[in-house]
Amino acid sequence: MKPVERDTLSETDLELLAAAREVSDRAYAPYSGFRVGCAVLASDGDRGTEIVAGCNIENASYSLTVCAERAAMGAAVSRGRRAFDVIAIYTHTPHPTPPCGACRQFLHELARGVRILIECETGVFETDLATLLPDAFEQPSE
Ligand code: THU
Repeated sequence: MKPVERDTLSETDLELLAAAREVSDRAYAPYSGFRVGCAVLASDGDRGTEIVAGCNIENASYSLTVCAERAAMGAAVSRGRRAFDVIAIYTHTPHPTPPCGACRQFLHELARGVRILIECETGVFETDLATLLPDAFEQPSE
């Protein structure tokens, strides 16, 4: 993950980061207390660009927890969006929190080429899936 200066980011990037931060406050995380927000930028197309956000949603049966990244992507796909340019993740922590392994695989399926911006209390960082998930699993061909 590379640190990024805020003043090098576009207005849209900053809007996306703000959306991720805002939605992190709506996280349902009574078990871990760890609030995560994610916002995805659906690409320009017939419907123009659109920001769709999601937060983590925990469950008393812990393994049913949905991460913020999958909540955001699920909401975007449910809105008919299939192409994404940027994904922003926010956590209230001193260190940046990259997506978990399951979310990396989920993003590989639906948003392979996205820029990934990760913001925490100390700054903004950037990475991509080629770095986070090299040699990803894909549906085996016959
Ligand atoms: N979490 C996310 O939302 N995204 C990740 O990529 C890592 C983990 C959430 C799930 C759970 O609610 C909490 O963080 C602690 O694991």
